Amino acid sequence: MKFAIIGAGGLGGFFGARLAAAGHDVSFLARGEHLTALRERGLTVLGPDGEATTRPVHATGDPAELGTPDAALLAVKTWQLDAAVAALPAGTDAVLTLQNGVDAPAQVARTLGKDAVLPGVAKVIAALAGPGTIRHVGGAGSLDFAEWDNRPSERAERIRAAFATAGIPTTPPADIWTELWAKFLFITPIGGLGAVTGATFGELRGHPETRRTLQAAMTEIERLARASGVDLPADVVAATLAFVDRQPAEGTTSLQRDIAAARPSELDAWTGSAVRLGREAGVPTPVNDVLHAILRLREDR
Ligand SMILES: NC(=O)c1ccc[n+]([C@@H]2O[C@H](COP(=O)([O-])OP(=O)(O)OC[C@H]3O[C@@H](n4cnc5c(N)ncnc54)[C@H](OP(=O)(O)O)[C@@H]3O)[C@@H](O)[C@H]2O)c1
Repeated sequence: MKFAIIGAGGLGGFFGARLAAAGHDVSFLARGEHLTALRERGLTVLGPDGEATTRPVHATGDPAELGTPDAALLAVKTWQLDAAVAALPAGTDAVLTLQNGVDAPAQVARTLGKDAVLPGVAKVIAALAGPGTIRHVGGAGSLDFAEWDNRPSERAERIRAAFATAGIPTTPPADIWTELWAKFLFITPIGGLGAVTGATFGELRGHPETRRTLQAAMTEIERLARASGVDLPADVVAATLAFVDRQPAEGTTSLQRDIAAARPSELDAWTGSAVRLGREAGVPTPVNDVLHAILRLREDR
C-alpha cells in the first residue's frame, strides 16, 4: 500500500519505519537536517528491542514528490497541522489524524471535508533523538482509527490490514470519539499539571495534593465529554488514575518537556482546548483554567 507520512518525527518515524520494513511504499515529508540525514543514512529507530535502520527511505521536502498515496498520516504537532494539510497531495482521500487532543479531526475536515478524515488515536511513546533517528521509549505501538461516523469501510479495512502486516495492532474502536476523549482525559490533566509543577508522573500521583488536583482536572474533562455527547465509561476517571499508576515513575508528557525547553507546545490543543470547550458548553473547568492561565503566561513570555 502507498503511504504518505507528513512529518517524520517521533510518531511518523515510528509508524513509517514499521510500514516500510513490511514492504509498503512509504514516502516521508520532512525538512532540515532530519531530511538530509534520512536521505543520506536512512531512518534509525532505537528501541527497547535494539536498533533498526531502514535504508534507503523515500524522504522529500517537496510535497509534489509524495506521489498519489492510498492513505496519508498527518504526524505533525497540532500547531503545524494547517501547513501539513496544505502539503498533502491533491486528491488524497484517506487522511489519518494522529494528534493528541480532540480538535485535530475537525481542524483538518475544515479544509478536506469529513469524508476524507479518519480520526485516529496513537498509543506509543516515541521521539526524535536526532537527525535521522527516532527513539522508541515505550508502549508496543498501536493505532486506533475509524471513519468519522464509525461506520465500517473498505478503505479502513485495507489500511488496518497494511498496519497488521507491519505488526501494529489497529483494533476498530466501538466509537473513535470515545477513544479520543479518553486519551484527552489522560494526557491533558497530567500534561498541564506536570508542566506547571515540573514534576514526574511518579511525583504527581504520589503526593496526595497533586493526585487530588489531577483527579479534579480529569473529572472536569469527564463532565465536558458527557456534555458534548461523548459516552465515556462510568469509571473513566478511576481507570485513568489507575493507568497513571502503571506508567513509569520518571514519565513526563511532551507538553511538559516542550514548555520546559521553551519550544512551541501543544498547550492550545490540550489544556487550552479543555478551557475553550468548557466555556462553549457551559461546563466549569476551574482546575484546567488555572493550569492554562499559568502556562499561557509562561508560553507568552
Ligand atoms: N510521539 C509520540 O509518542 C506520540 C504519541 C501519541 C500521540 N502523539 C501526537 O502526535 C503528534 C506528533 O507528535 P510527534 O511527537 O511525532 O512530533 P515531532 O516529533 O515533533 O514530529 C513532527 C515532525 O514533523 C515535522 N514537520 C512538521 N511540519 C512539517 C512540514 N510542514 N513539512 C515537513 N515536516 C514537518 C517536524 O519538523 P520540525 O521539527 O522541523 O518542526 C517534526 O520532524 C502530536 O500531536 C502528538 O501529541 C505523539
